[in-house]
Amino acid sequence: MATGSFRLILCCVFVIIISESSAQTCDNEKGNFTINSTYHKNLNTLLSSFSSYKHINYGFYNISYGENPDKVYAIGLCRGDQTQDQCLSCLNDSRVSLAQNCPNQKEAITWPGECMLRYSNRSIFGVLETRPELWFVASRNITGSVDRFNEALQNLMENLTGEAALGDSRRKYATGDASAPEFQTIYGYVQCTPDLSSNLCTRCLSEAISSIPYCCKGLTVGNVVKPSCRIRFDPYLYYGPTVKIDPDAPPPLLQQPPSSPPGTSNTSRTIIAITVPVASVVLVLSLICICLRVRNANIKRFESIREDDDKDEITVAESLQLNFDTIQVATNDFSDSNKLGQGGFGAVYKGQLSNGQVIAVKRLSTESCQGEMEFKNEVLLVAKLQHRNLVRLLGFCLEGKERLLVYEFVPNKSLDYFIFNPTKKAQLDWERRYQIIRGIARGMVYLHEDSRLRIIHRDLKASNILLDEEMNPKISDFGMARLVVDQTQGNTSRIVGTYGYMAPEYAAFGQFSTKSDVFSFGVLVLEIISGQKINGVGHGEHVENLLSFTWRNWRGGTATKIVDPTLKGSQNEIMRCIHVGLLCVQENADARPTMASILLMLNSYSLSLPRPLEPAFFMDSRTRSLSDIQSSEYNSREIRTSESTNKSTQESVNEASITELYPR
Ligand SMILES: *[C@@H]1O[C@H](CO)[C@@H](O)[C@H](O)[C@H]1NC(C)=O
Ligand SMILES: *[C@@H]1O[C@H](CO)[C@@H](O)[C@H](O)[C@H]1NC(C)=O
Ligand SMILES: *[C@@H]1O[C@H](CO)[C@@H](O)[C@H](O)[C@H]1NC(C)=O
Ligand SMILES: *[C@@H]1O[C@H](CO)[C@@H](O)[C@H](O)[C@H]1NC(C)=O
Ligand SMILES: *[C@@H]1O[C@H](CO)[C@@H](O)[C@H](O)[C@H]1NC(C)=O
Ligand SMILES: *[C@@H]1O[C@H](CO)[C@@H](O)[C@H](O)[C@H]1NC(C)=O
Ligand SMILES: *[C@@H]1O[C@H](CO)[C@@H](O)[C@H](O)[C@H]1NC(C)=O
Repeated sequence: MATGSFRLILCCVFVIIISESSAQTCDNEKGNFTINSTYHKNLNTLLSSFSSYKHINYGFYNISYGENPDKVYAIGLCRGDQTQDQCLSCLNDSRVSLAQNCPNQKEAITWPGECMLRYSNRSIFGVLETRPELWFVASRNITGSVDRFNEALQNLMENLTGEAALGDSRRKYATGDASAPEFQTIYGYVQCTPDLSSNLCTRCLSEAISSIPYCCKGLTVGNVVKPSCRIRFDPYLYYGPTVKIDPDAPPPLLQQPPSSPPGTSNTSRTIIAITVPVASVVLVLSLICICLRVRNANIKRFESIREDDDKDEITVAESLQLNFDTIQVATNDFSDSNKLGQGGFGAVYKGQLSNGQVIAVKRLSTESCQGEMEFKNEVLLVAKLQHRNLVRLLGFCLEGKERLLVYEFVPNKSLDYFIFNPTKKAQLDWERRYQIIRGIARGMVYLHEDSRLRIIHRDLKASNILLDEEMNPKISDFGMARLVVDQTQGNTSRIVGTYGYMAPEYAAFGQFSTKSDVFSFGVLVLEIISGQKINGVGHGEHVENLLSFTWRNWRGGTATKIVDPTLKGSQNEIMRCIHVGLLCVQENADARPTMASILLMLNSYSLSLPRPLEPAFFMDSRTRSLSDIQSSEYNSREIRTSESTNKSTQESVNEASITELYPR
């Protein structure tokens, strides 16, 4: 069993901007060969044989040469617009430069702009490999709205991913462009080695896309390259028309990859040079130190997973497993001073691994009815959910009755810490709040529609929205229902949720659906705009439920009263958000829009919105019995203290208000 420990690899990537491009890694950990050895000779024979390959193969070369243990495997891949001659010439150049720069490494990769060449002494055919990952950027800032640019970029990249993944075993490649604000155009390119299945291709590209916020934040130029795939975006057209594939020739059958798993060694690699293929404009020479990449010696994560192979998936689940002792040490034996919060699923602790990485550990209160295997399977599924607006699950730990979940640590506490605090809320101006609303919406669309699983959050609320350094929202606690509660049906006997945020059909009958999440989202939007908690607007005798307060003012034409008085921003945008919020909290679940259409409403001002019907006000007698059921959050120690001094608002005032606050 893997006893993983996280390894933090800090790689400094030198970005040298010159007109020609070459990026290479020589792997110093996977073995060296001696000059003039059999391996060396095989390698040379293999690489020089590329040019003799004359059959039409649309830019994908997978060849091997020699006998074990000196057998050499190589993959060459060209961009889909390259003709056979261009492709072979790019591969030939690559071979020459690798021979110069990686003179004795058994494994090496190079990624010039138009092709990729890699070789190894192990079989690399049909195997997903996402590390090493290199980034090339150019210091060219986005002009105009960064958000809109990023949104256009994200959409483009997601579309291209879908297109490329549909390619057959001859080519998995897509290019396309999208318009960004201020008449900018984004030219995008994505490609996988076509020996990967569609799913593995999608996985590789999604991972590459998820690096964009780290590599290329605020920039109009970015490249993320991995052994199995690469992406690029640029404001200049750098690719030509795609070479046509003969539609009549059947694609070659995908062969089963040989069953030798790649090595599991720690990989520290020499990055020789990274140069940016940027169109001829003079750019600033910059040195960028990036990629605080979490890597685990034993956590292989998604590398080399053959899909549809349950055994391998379970192996991966096990490889996400951490030692209880490791966590105990990291959290100072779950000391109170490390405690970040306490919720219905258990306490959350801040921890630091021996390598310095900061984590958040959720120690589940026991009594889960799941067996170990089910738990592992669920962890694996949830760990696969990766989106910039979701808190990432890094691993887990199972020991006796202990079940721990290890998450990335998100530094800036949760949203409620800011929006409900009279002084802190000033840090969130309208632009920020709008960005937060849309980020949450994007994360929810991913959970509901884009991820391979359909995840219903069931406990979306301000304290489950964590904020990163840049105040980008990250949804936490998703998938908890899978991890903790045994549920498969759309009906549950155990209600996980927070009163006030729960849709009426869920609170009363335990019926949950994506539409109950939409309800919670609507409540959250109204809280963000008003800076008021769902359970009460006003003071003393005049406490009113936020929904009824909003509805009353909206209908009465005094909608501006709903808005947090500290907010200065586009009234149109704010009113539109209130409108969307009201559509989400409608009593009739069918009338509520889906998260995807909500995102559309938030992004496109031309879309006309339907008129909202009266929201569901809560008058439910189960309120009190729900008080012991709520879910957890972390990062909210302060909030808890400030809330306990606020208990005086916990009165039932009129029938449209709630009789109990967030149960804690
Ligand atoms: C392989 O050779 C490189 C120098 O070319 C060296 O830095 C590295 O440590 C060697 N690796 C091993 C495992 O000997
Ligand atoms: C590749 O070379 C390394 C180092 O020499 C060796 O440990 C490993 O077993 C080799 N892999 C294969 C598949 O032969
Ligand atoms: C390798 O072989 C070549 C030609 O066969 C020879 O010129 C060279 O000196 C040899 N290098 C080493 C280090 O043995
Ligand atoms: C790729 O290489 C592997 C291993 O050498 C081989 O089994 C497979 O047939 C090759 N596939 C193609 C399409 O050449
Ligand atoms: C490959 O590159 C080498 C060195 O640049 C050159 O001498 C050789 O002619 C090239 N071969 C092909 C087939 O282009
Ligand atoms: C790009 O933006 C960063 C941060 O906003 C700034 O420091 C840098 O000077 C800008 N670079 C250019 C070339 O405008
Ligand atoms: C992405 O695909 C959707 C549906 O096919 C399309 O409506 C949209 O315009 C595409 N977006 C981009 C940026 O290409």
